[in-house]
Amino acid sequence: MKVLDLFCGAGGFSEGFRSAGFKIIAGIDNDKNALETFSQNFKESITLNLDLSTPSLDSRLKNILKEGVDLVIGGPPCQGFSIAGKRLVDDPRNQLYKAYLDIVRLAKPYGVIIENVPNIMNYHNGRIATEICKDLESLGFNVKIMTLIASDFGVPQSRKRTFFIALKPKLDNLFQNPKPVSLFNQITCEMALSDLPLLEKTLGHEASDYDIKPQTNYQKLMRKSSSILFNHSAVNHTEQTKSIIKIVPDGGNYKNLPINLQKTRKVNIAWTRMNSKKPCFTIDAGHNHHFHYKANRVPTVRECARIQSFPDMFRFYGNRTSQYRQVGNAVPPLLGKAIANELMNVFKNLKIDKNS
Ligand SMILES: C[S@@+](CC[C@H](N)C(=O)[O-])C[C@H]1O[C@@H](n2cnc3c(N)ncnc32)[C@H](O)[C@@H]1O
Repeated sequence: MKVLDLFCGAGGFSEGFRSAGFKIIAGIDNDKNALETFSQNFKESITLNLDLSTPSLDSRLKNILKEGVDLVIGGPPCQGFSIAGKRLVDDPRNQLYKAYLDIVRLAKPYGVIIENVPNIMNYHNGRIATEICKDLESLGFNVKIMTLIASDFGVPQSRKRTFFIALKPKLDNLFQNPKPVSLFNQITCEMALSDLPLLEKTLGHEASDYDIKPQTNYQKLMRKSSSILFNHSAVNHTEQTKSIIKIVPDGGNYKNLPINLQKTRKVNIAWTRMNSKKPCFTIDAGHNHHFHYKANRVPTVRECARIQSFPDMFRFYGNRTSQYRQVGNAVPPLLGKAIANELMNVFKNLKIDKNS
């Protein structure tokens, strides 16, 4: 099954599909650094740097489509959606969305999987989500929407994401919702990170060694085929930052600080420490407010990648700010894999005409 990843970023969603047995034929994005990461980690795939807001279809993209695409995954970034009276697709501000539908129309896949933030269901009182469903239905798909919590699927993080699963008739009936693990089997921050060197200072170089054996099954899974640790370099905080975060206990936040220090940062997510005994809060694109459960620093790019369930052999490129953004923007690979596994079950042994 051949997958085209639109707005692929570093390739978190693709990694999930690849590990479920899909072939990623291409990833398309316009962020140079994310594409460097994608191309280094998906050497078997085409990496295309393309601004998807350009109205005419690029010839390189047309060539990819000629090879045949079974699934299109990824979706236009949500902040792009606007709607004023007309249909979503007719609003000139939704250029990316229009281009997206044009590509799907030409690719004629069996299915389209769009990921977005759960709040998409509330945008314009639900009109955006309704319009997306209508547009996909007009292209011959039946659409199911589901909001999943990553920690239910082996990811040590409470990130919620909404997925539009659009499949051709007959296939949609065969698709089963991914099955969550029990609360008891959720992966905590400590289970995810405790084997990584607890750096207090930047190493000044990109690669380092593991200094202990994996302590948990999750760590074993993450370290599969990886003997060197990349992207594990600590941010150097000021002495003042270190002395303040030292006061916050495992799982604590600004409320654990004396009143005079509580207001040192103006946002209420500031001075938050991971809770070692729980899945992590949502990893974002890097803003230096969320700290490691034990070390007096923010998590390294590798620790964030572990929280997102990227295997250690998945290396990130570009400067550190960009690496944090790539990791934070991604669909957690194990969450993507949970959906991809169910799609694989649908497609196994099934021959169906895409155009029916
Ligand atoms: C949420 S991220 C995608 C993350 C990806 N699905 C993953 O799992 O790693 C959204 C991506 O859309 C890309 N993007 C935004 N505007 C774009 C445009 N006009 N053309 C191409 N890509 C664009 C960004 O560079 C970013 O990588």
